[in-house]
Amino acid sequence: HAHPHAPEGGFQFDGPLGTWDRVQLQRGLKVYDEVCSACHSLKFVAFRDLQDLGLSEGQIKAYAATKQVPGIDPNTGEAIMRPGEPTDYFPSPYPNAVAAAAANNNAIPPDLSLMTKARHNGSDYVYSLLTGYADPATYEHDGKRLMEEFPEFETPLGLYFNPYFANLNLAMAPPLGVDGQVTFDDGTEATVSQMSKDVAAFLTWTAEPKLVERKKTGWAVMIFLLFATVLAYFAKRQIWSSVK
Ligand code: HEM
Repeated sequence: HAHPHAPEGGFQFDGPLGTWDRVQLQRGLKVYDEVCSACHSLKFVAFRDLQDLGLSEGQIKAYAATKQVPGIDPNTGEAIMRPGEPTDYFPSPYPNAVAAAAANNNAIPPDLSLMTKARHNGSDYVYSLLTGYADPATYEHDGKRLMEEFPEFETPLGLYFNPYFANLNLAMAPPLGVDGQVTFDDGTEATVSQMSKDVAAFLTWTAEPKLVERKKTGWAVMIFLLFATVLAYFAKRQIWSSVK
């Protein structure tokens, strides 16, 4: 199937000197919040982690309170839903896997916390998947028509053709279908491509929040090792200077 491709301009976190674009991560959070969270959880991300994105404690508290999370009634001990707190994790919209499957043509929307790590070239993959829905009747790859090579190919009712998905047909309808589906607070134009890129960046952060820190540590280690090597070289020269 088609190889995932990077969005135009790539991601700012790419490469050894990559950094987060926190405004982009905030846009990605908005896409997740308004679109993806209808079906997907982020069970390894706590609301308080959003301080990485530049949200204040007050903003996080207010945001968490808008979400319903599973809890326990302190008086009766019964399972209830209660408003979220900063220490809670992004919940699943479904009470259980059966309800999730029933709502999605028998497929369970996977948790997205680690998705960009679970898939090869995960950041590009998420972008490609979101922008890559196609009509199998006209789909071409490497100049070859899918329907000419595989005349039997069929997308079953209730599934959607996407050449980036390993099975080619998936149970997720195109979640980002029209420009302007989300309104970005920073005025960025919300094209399908832009929303896809931003949510892919956000999901890269959820999967590896320490990505940029790791790269910076790598540089510090390399520079220190270079320094230590030069020092060792001159020390060696000094120590052996009297030996002919
Ligand atoms: C699967 C992302 C919105 C339902 C997936 C996968 C990703 C993803 C990365 C996994 C593909 C794989 O396994 O390789 C997103 C993003 C969304 C979004 C970023 C928001 C922009 C939605 C919505 C729904 C949904 C709104 C429900 C209406 C599903 C289902 C699957 C799935 C059912 C499983 C598909 C299958 O295995 O056939 N999604 N999703 N998603 N998503 Fe979404």
